[in-house]
Amino acid sequence: MAKFLFIFLALLITASASDWNILSQRSKSGLKISLKNYCESWRLNVELHNIRFFRVVPEECVSYIGKYVTSTQYKVDSERTIEECVVYLSKGCDLKGDGTDAWIFDIDDTLISTVPYYKKNQYGGKKLNLTDLEAWMSKARAPILEHTLRLFNFLKAKGVDIILISARREGLRSATIENLVQVGYHGWTNLILRSPEDEKKGVEQYKADVRRRLVNGGYHIWGIVGDQYSSIQGSPSGRRTFKLPNPMYYVY
Ligand SMILES: *[C@@H]1O[C@H](CO)[C@@H](O)[C@H](O)[C@H]1NC(C)=O
Repeated sequence: MAKFLFIFLALLITASASDWNILSQRSKSGLKISLKNYCESWRLNVELHNIRFFRVVPEECVSYIGKYVTSTQYKVDSERTIEECVVYLSKGCDLKGDGTDAWIFDIDDTLISTVPYYKKNQYGGKKLNLTDLEAWMSKARAPILEHTLRLFNFLKAKGVDIILISARREGLRSATIENLVQVGYHGWTNLILRSPEDEKKGVEQYKADVRRRLVNGGYHIWGIVGDQYSSIQGSPSGRRTFKLPNPMYYVY
């Protein structure tokens, strides 16, 4: 009996990681799927915006997500997003050239990376601790996402006003500027962070309200690049929007 209990407990403990092999998982239609199949499909459906409002990365996919966000594939995927922005700017964009052209960027996981923070927090598998995240942000050590800097400089050279709109709170302003400048970003037109008043709204509403002010002020928003749907949805939006991959967290 004791031996049976022990085996049962041992099975329970290891279940989350290995039940994929033990039970040989099947999808609803009976497809045999591996843990990798399962997590790959979870990640893709996050990016397709079919999976929404997730609070944490599913425990069994933490290792898969960690591998993805530190992989060459993640870099290639992100670089492709930026490449499509450049194609659009070169072919589909009739810039006014009169100071009313604008482009909007997110900051976290768009200009700079929070992967080092999430690495210490199970790549999103742990519930967010805002105090902890803000303490990390205030150190201004977030590394650059190089491909985005290339687009940033391309836009600057074209005379497009660059507007940064972030869900970071106002208190992080100097640390944010320090971090951005240190990794090579400079020459943006406006850096908009969340005031206590903005914090009462959802992020999507806050960002849409900022864009409303920009449009009312005469700006043409040619494009938005962000890693969250809350950065590109809502009205008014940009003429085009570009979504960078981010399976670690969901902001709304
Ligand atoms: C969040 O992190 C801070 C600082 O590391 C810690 O003191 C606090 O207990 C954490 N809060 C929760 C709810 O875990």
